[in-house]
Amino acid sequence: MRIYKAKDYEEMSQKAANIIAAQVVLKPECVLGLATGSTPIGTYSRLVEKYEKGDLDFSKVTTVNLDEYKGLPRENDQSYYYFMHENLFDKVNIDPASTNLPDGTKEDSDAECARYEALIQSLGGVDLQLLGLGHNGHIGFNEPADVFEKDTHCVDLQERTIEANKRFFASADDVPRQAYTMGIGTIMRAKKILVVVSGEDKAETVAKAFFGPVTPQVPASILQMHPDVTVVADEAALSKS
Ligand code: GLP
Repeated sequence: MRIYKAKDYEEMSQKAANIIAAQVVLKPECVLGLATGSTPIGTYSRLVEKYEKGDLDFSKVTTVNLDEYKGLPRENDQSYYYFMHENLFDKVNIDPASTNLPDGTKEDSDAECARYEALIQSLGGVDLQLLGLGHNGHIGFNEPADVFEKDTHCVDLQERTIEANKRFFASADDVPRQAYTMGIGTIMRAKKILVVVSGEDKAETVAKAFFGPVTPQVPASILQMHPDVTVVADEAALSKS
C-alpha cells in the first residue's frame, strides 16, 4: 500500500486525477471503477479540465460504478447515476453506452446484483478502481459486518451512513434504506485501487483502516491485503496515523 500525503483537498484531487489520467493514457480502452460521495468530486473536475485541454481521451474507456441506491430512479438528483452524469460523463467524450451502474430501479435484488457482477467479469475486470472512504470504514456500501461480502449484493444501510448522507436529501426519511454495491471480492479483484480521503473527520477511520487490524468491522482494512493500492489522503485525514 502506497500512501501519498497531500497538503489539502485540492492537492489530493490533483494527484488522484493524475493517477487516473495516467491509466487512461497508458491503456485507452481501460475499465475504470468509479465512486461517488463528496470526496471524488474534485478529482472528477480535474479530469474534466484535462479533457478540455485536450490531454485526455475517454472515447475508449468503459466505466463501472461501485454502487447505487435501491429505489431511486435515474432522474432523481441524489441517484448515483445522476451524480456521475453531472460530475463526469456529460462533460467528457465517454460513450454513454460504456458507462455502467447497478440499476436501483430493479426490484429483484438477486437478479440485478448477479447481472452487475457478471457484467464486470465480462469486461475482463476493473483496471483501476477509485474509492472513497465512509466514516465507519465502508467502501462502496460495504458496511461494517461480521464477514466480508464477496460479490455485488443488496445492503441495508446503517444509521451512521443514513445520517452522513441525509445532508443531500430533504430529510433523513428521504434517504433510501438499501443500496446495491459491489462486494469486497469485486473490489479486491480490481488490478489497481486508488483511495481518496480528505478531512480531519476521517482521520480516525484512516488510522483504523490502513494502520489497524484487517477486520470486516472496518471494511476498508481489507485493502491492506491488495497488491496494488494507492491512498491519496490530505494532511488532515492522516493526522491520527
Ligand atoms: C457513500 C458512498 C461511498 C463513499 C462514501 C463517503 O456512502 N457509497 O462510496 O465513499 O459515501 O462519502 P464522502 O466522500 O462524501 O465522505
